[in-house]
Amino acid sequence: MEDGALPMLIAPPALSTAPLEVPHRLLMGPGPSNVPARVLAAAGLPLLGHMHPQYLKIMDECQAWLRYAFQTTNELTLAVSGSGHAAMEAGIANLVEAGDPVLVAENGLWGERVSDIADRYGAEVKTTKVAGGEVFTLGQIEEELRRHRPKLLFLCHGDSSTGALQPLVGMGELCHKYGCLLFVDCITTIGGVPVFIDKWGIDVAYTGAQKVLNVPPGASPITFSPRAVQRIASRHSKVGSFYLDMTLVGRYWGVGGPRIYHHTGLISNVYVLREGLALLAEEGLEAAWARHRQSVDTLHAGLERMGLQLFVKEKAHRLPTVSTVCVPAGVKWDAVSKFIMEKYSMEIAGGLGPTAGKVWRIGLMGANANPANVTLVLAAMEDALRHVGFLRRSAL
Ligand SMILES: Cc1ncc(COP(=O)(O)O)c(C=O)c1O
Repeated sequence: MEDGALPMLIAPPALSTAPLEVPHRLLMGPGPSNVPARVLAAAGLPLLGHMHPQYLKIMDECQAWLRYAFQTTNELTLAVSGSGHAAMEAGIANLVEAGDPVLVAENGLWGERVSDIADRYGAEVKTTKVAGGEVFTLGQIEEELRRHRPKLLFLCHGDSSTGALQPLVGMGELCHKYGCLLFVDCITTIGGVPVFIDKWGIDVAYTGAQKVLNVPPGASPITFSPRAVQRIASRHSKVGSFYLDMTLVGRYWGVGGPRIYHHTGLISNVYVLREGLALLAEEGLEAAWARHRQSVDTLHAGLERMGLQLFVKEKAHRLPTVSTVCVPAGVKWDAVSKFIMEKYSMEIAGGLGPTAGKVWRIGLMGANANPANVTLVLAAMEDALRHVGFLRRSAL
């Protein structure tokens, strides 16, 4: 019997083949955030070849805008193919060799993730922890650096699982005093909160597309200081991941030698990233930071007027882009988010990691951080809290 005459082993699934439709949602959780029309439209532009000069020019533009967003002159600044975890893993894969002591300052879920990844790459992982919602002081970090003498320190700038904003001023200088590099997760902060990579002496930092940049996930920005590049160049062993080898990926982005093909670039993801970064540059970082500040101040005041409490007690340590709001005793967090999703088509997330079951997480990220959305979230929360019996009609 000819191959073509064999019966098919797998029949086509009994699914509708009509064009895909998805509901519109206001994404007011910790990410992804809503994507502005201009960015969304770029996803529909025709593909270019991943080595075509016109596409390479778009990559160059992304790099220039990324240097602005990160406030850095670092040459090795690019977008890794993959979501934020890919950038997180790229940092570890390139900076860590088996047996290297790595210190992870865990103040929420993301430190735990980095510890796990560093362990997989053979690092001697040491951790230091603070309770969820708290941050590390320079004094605490110095003590740990003195004790463990790590080659790399990880800090999460904006921990979306706890809503805490880790102060970074002075951390780079401290690390360098002890011969250590500073590696920072800026996924929820770039574009929404001041970040100065060069001024603060940060050696490696990464961010995500789908948070403040309002871009579909897929290409994740990362930057390496000359010190970090030097560390990579002096490795004794090959980087344990071919896909995330920054020396090779850097060459595709035109850094460190003539361009080479490494893997097929995420063409459409780079288009949308370009648009998200262009919109940020158009508004200006200072204006974007101020808009996030104003939005979150109004949000917090409104939530407190309803009798709710914020999970992060110290005002200065509250992350403007993701707020964690304590679930009052006797209230089911998921009944509230479900009500808001069903009635308002709006996402408000529950807790994650150390805050699971304890908080709601409300995101104000990028274009979503505006007075109309704040008013809507507050109205939806108030309605939901009445619905579950926490607020009575006369309460406000
Ligand atoms: C602070 C932080 N780091 C890392 C990540 C992981 O990013 P991704 O889910 O894009 O892989 C997230 C995602 O929510 C995050 O908020």
